This record gives sequence, structure tokens and C-alpha cells, in this order.
Amino acid sequence: MRSRLLAPAIALLLCPAFAQSLRQEAENGGILVGTAVNPIYLSEPAYAATLAREYNMLEPEDAMKWYTVQPDEKTINFTPADQLVEFAAAHGMKVRGHTLLWGGHDPKWLSSRTPKQLSQILRKHIKLEVGRYRGRVFAWDVVNEAFDENGKLKDSVWYNRPGIGMADRGTAYIEQAFRWAHATDPQALLFYNEADAEAMNRKSDAVYAMVKAFKERGVPIDGVGLQMHIFDLNPDVNGIATNMQRLTALGLQVHITELDVALPVDENGHPLHPEDFALQAEIYREIATVCLQHSGCTALQTWGFTDKYSWIGWFTHKTKGAAVPFDRQYKPKPAYDALMQALRAPRN
Ligand code: XIL
Repeated sequence: MRSRLLAPAIALLLCPAFAQSLRQEAENGGILVGTAVNPIYLSEPAYAATLAREYNMLEPEDAMKWYTVQPDEKTINFTPADQLVEFAAAHGMKVRGHTLLWGGHDPKWLSSRTPKQLSQILRKHIKLEVGRYRGRVFAWDVVNEAFDENGKLKDSVWYNRPGIGMADRGTAYIEQAFRWAHATDPQALLFYNEADAEAMNRKSDAVYAMVKAFKERGVPIDGVGLQMHIFDLNPDVNGIATNMQRLTALGLQVHITELDVALPVDENGHPLHPEDFALQAEIYREIATVCLQHSGCTALQTWGFTDKYSWIGWFTHKTKGAAVPFDRQYKPKPAYDALMQALRAPRN
């Protein structure tokens, strides 16, 4: 009888105190919690304070993309990326690099080159960027969004238009990018990052087949990034779990890299249906829980953290928004509370 009464009290005493931030909670649970960031907002005290308080990882939203780093052949610009790397170092945060090869979003000057030139340019770009941040960027999205919805490789400058000289060899150009990145920083974790390949579908099957073959052949790949932009308030959570299971079973890590849950909004960015906040929170909880149930899912990241600056607005012509855990005044939303609760829940 006595021990039955004492047990809960002892359990409470042994429990670490409830953490005050996502970051503390994530650190207790041994997982990374991150967000995409833009250095132009760091001068805003609430932005910088929330970022440093709540996250132990950041990822440049655009600052490490090719069009920022080398908009034309003669201009190299690492200033915005450096600012973020310095902010992260000052606040004990990890940096996820994004992204070295993203066909379709390249600056125009790349489109008028021969395969031989492109191969040299890509190699130089990877060496330059990965080399600059060696030891400071712990993981890279080496290649982003290479597959279409049918699981076919997308046409691109790097693959086949004209490509780097491997157009007839499928994913060989992707493999080459991983090999160059690994040769430049053997310590960095290397990820393939994809959109709309979270659950089971033709695209995620193609990603799975590629990374499985890479693992079997010893290509230096450490993980898969699942972007997780959710637009329909009805994600296939079981499918996401199944996909995560098969990827982690290969010995790969999974990072959730770009989670956000878009809500229908009015012209001022306010949700049309206030009850959507609760629905959104449930989706955040479910996705976080799936990640936390897989020990191979080692990072949970949202694409921005304040509704003031999330990309969803311009992407959807302002018909959707309010997608991330803090509102425009940096006040935590129900989605934030749901993430805290998911991080706090005991892990399997
Ligand atoms: C988006 C950024 O949020 C925007 O600021 C930018 O103008 C376009 O790219 N998938 C990705 C991200 O991998 O890099 C994209 O980021 C969002 C979709």
C-alpha cells in the first residue's frame, strides 16, 4: 500500500523538471530541433531571441543556395551564410547546410555550358562551399528534389540538359555530387532531400530505391531529408511512418527538414477557420511523434518559425499561411504546445 502511494511521488522527483523551450526538451531527448532562417531578420531582437532560445539547429533558408552564393560567374557571396554560421556558433547551435545541387533553381549563367564545363563547375562549387564550412556545417542536403511525381529523374542542367556527362546513367550524377562532398568533408553527414516523398508513393519509392542502391554500393550517404510541407491538413501519417521505417532500416538517418502546416487564411494572414489551429497542432504532434518513435529520425525541423516570415504566403499567393509554431508576434501557437508535449512524451 505504502509503495503504491510513494511510487508516483518518487517518479515525479526523479523526473527532470519540465523544460522551458523546445530546445531544452529536445536536448533532454537527444534529438535536434531546428528551423530554416534568413539572416536579414537576425537584427530583429524577438526573431534572434526566439531562435536562440527554442532551437539547437538552424538551416539557411536561401543563404547557401547557388543563386545566393554565386549569382553570376564572377560573384562569390558567402556573407549571409557566414552570418548564420556565426550566429549558430555563438548560441551553441548546429548548422544544416542547404543545398549544393538543386536543378531548376540555378542561376541562369549555368545553362550555357557544356557537360565537361558543368562537371568542373559543379565539382568546384561543392568543394568551395563544403570546404568553407568544413567542421561548421555538420550535415548537408547534397542534392534537393531530383525526382518528379512519377519517380522519374527530373530534367535538369546537371542530369541531362545537358548534364555533367552522365545523362545515360540515371542517378550517377547524384552519386557524383555525394562523392565530391564526401571527399571535401569526410566528417559531414550527407543527405538526399526530397519534397512530397514523405509517405508511400512513386516518388518515395524512387528515392528509397536510389538510397538503398547507394548504401549497397558504399556511396557516402548518411540520410534522407523528408521536407514535410503539409498543405491539405490531412497527412497520411501511417504512410509517413512506413516510409520512415524502411529508410531507417537501411541504416540511414532521417531528418524532417521543412515541416510546416499551411492553413487557409484571409488577406491579412488570419486563418479563415480558427478551429484549424487545433487541427494544425494535432498534425504537428503526430509528425513529431512518428519521428520520435524512430531512433533513426534524428532531427525535426520546421521551415521557419514565425508566421511573420514563413514562405507559404508568397508560394500560395497569400491564400494559405499561419503554418509554423509561432504567430506574427512570436507568441507560441497550439502547434508549439503540441511539439513540446510530443518531445516530452516518453520514447520507445
Ligand atoms: C524556398 C524558400 O523558403 C524561399 O525563400 C525561396 O525563395 C524559395 O525556396 N523546398 C526547399 C526549400 O527545399 O529550399 C524551399 O525554400 C521550399 C521548398
